[in-house]
Amino acid sequence: MNSYTPATDRHTVEPEKPAPLQTLAGAVGGTRYLPLPTLVADLRSDHAGESGAVMIYRGILAITRDAGVRHFAQQHLAAEARHLSQIEPLLAPQQPSRLLPLWHVAGWLTGALPARVGPRMVYATIEAVETFFDQHYAEQIESIDPHDPHSSHPPLQSVRALLQACRSDEIAHRDEAPALFAAGGRPASLALRCWVWSVGAGSRVAVKICRGI
Ligand SMILES: [Fe+2]
Ligand SMILES: [Fe+2]
Repeated sequence: MNSYTPATDRHTVEPEKPAPLQTLAGAVGGTRYLPLPTLVADLRSDHAGESGAVMIYRGILAITRDAGVRHFAQQHLAAEARHLSQIEPLLAPQQPSRLLPLWHVAGWLTGALPARVGPRMVYATIEAVETFFDQHYAEQIESIDPHDPHSSHPPLQSVRALLQACRSDEIAHRDEAPALFAAGGRPASLALRCWVWSVGAGSRVAVKICRGI
């Protein structure tokens, strides 16, 4: 079992590395609480989401020349890349979403388009994305009930710890964005609010799709 190692950004301490999913199969297969296909679907959506998150920040960095936005995006990109590297080994090679190229393009555009408009749109977009990720991880964490004897197997609990660590990073990312947005001093326009709504709705649809494909 790996020991704790220092985090590369300021938000979290890296959790213990979960066992590969093949090992987890013995822990959760056949339970009525968290059947393995459910766990695979959860982790597939996490993997696709983190892949998209990496591309969002890459899209921002490809476009913006604003020093504040670049610093913001670089910090967040490091966390998302770490999340992706921690979740990826939990899936067998054939288990990630087959639509990953689509999620990459969608993620990149979700970062690049707001970056083209300006910092406030970037911060509003990130608040919407990270609000979604917070809720997404919260639902999965809840499904691995620590009081459920079938979920108390150490590998499954280490998955839960990883999801909690990812969630705490997403919450920090979410909470950072509104303060930076408010520094612009203007209320959100109708167009901006429509964009933010579409980002949240698009994220929900994407997760539903990639749980199955
Ligand atoms: Fe993440
Ligand atoms: Fe994040």
